[in-house]
Amino acid sequence: MNNSSTITRDRLLLVAAAAFVSTLVFYLVIYYIYQPLATGAAIAWALVVLIVLFYVDRKRTGMLGLENENRELRAFINLQPLFGKTFVPYGFWAMEANNLQSLLSTIQYNGYRTVVECGAGVSTLLIGNLLRQLGQGHIFSLEEDEKWHAVMTSAIVHEGLADYVTVLHAPLEANADSGAAWYSLVVARQILEQAEQIDLLLVDGPKSIATLSRYPALPFFAPALHQHSLIVLDDSKRTNELAVIKKWGEVLKIDVQQVNQSLRGQAHIRLG
Ligand SMILES: C[S@@+](CC[C@H](N)C(=O)[O-])C[C@H]1O[C@@H](n2cnc3c(N)ncnc32)[C@H](O)[C@@H]1O
Repeated sequence: MNNSSTITRDRLLLVAAAAFVSTLVFYLVIYYIYQPLATGAAIAWALVVLIVLFYVDRKRTGMLGLENENRELRAFINLQPLFGKTFVPYGFWAMEANNLQSLLSTIQYNGYRTVVECGAGVSTLLIGNLLRQLGQGHIFSLEEDEKWHAVMTSAIVHEGLADYVTVLHAPLEANADSGAAWYSLVVARQILEQAEQIDLLLVDGPKSIATLSRYPALPFFAPALHQHSLIVLDDSKRTNELAVIKKWGEVLKIDVQQVNQSLRGQAHIRLG
């Protein structure tokens, strides 16, 4: 079961438990006051509680999360032309479909050409396929995992995307900026040498093991960003990523917009 259906099921259980417990308490109180009314009053109470809980839930996040499922499905269908003919697992590691869709749409609309990504995956191939469709551009992606790098490299060859996508194997090493492991600086510098200006910096790696695992990306690539560049931090609702945004804000002037219609969150950031 994926994370979003687990959350949906948990919320459903929570609503049912809240309705049940409050109805039981209400029944006992009425039973104690005036027994003949207890059953009827408890049924009426249960209905009112359910209606109120569903209403509040719908206001907050959509009917038990189904709006999110619906949005994800629509986005996933919309992404199909960019999936190409190569199998790469679209699992929980990858960005949510709705976030990918909005990212691709932003690249298309703004005419972004040079994309730098930390953490390769389905996103890399979709962006590469979009850049080919647009006729120019390149995505450079840093990948820590040697085996995953091999999977990605083979997919790029199979898709004929070598002119649009470069995935560099960048083993993790101690990083003084974050106190955590980040990509090899020698490898990351190869991107700076090839990409003079970065239109879009996509921070979706390395795996977020320590609080500031993803912090070094922005200070490292900042010299190649321009005033219209977009910085995207995925999974931005997580505690570690919120700490990264806070620390970025301490060292650089940034303007942060959280994309709300998303389960795990995605922050869109511009340099101020
Ligand atoms: C958050 S993922 C990056 C996902 C990628 N940007 C995307 O949206 O598809 C971070 C790391 O997880 C690993 N990873 C990504 N997809 C994977 C998969 N399907 N199986 C195993 N590891 C994966 C890679 O090492 C990657 O750098």
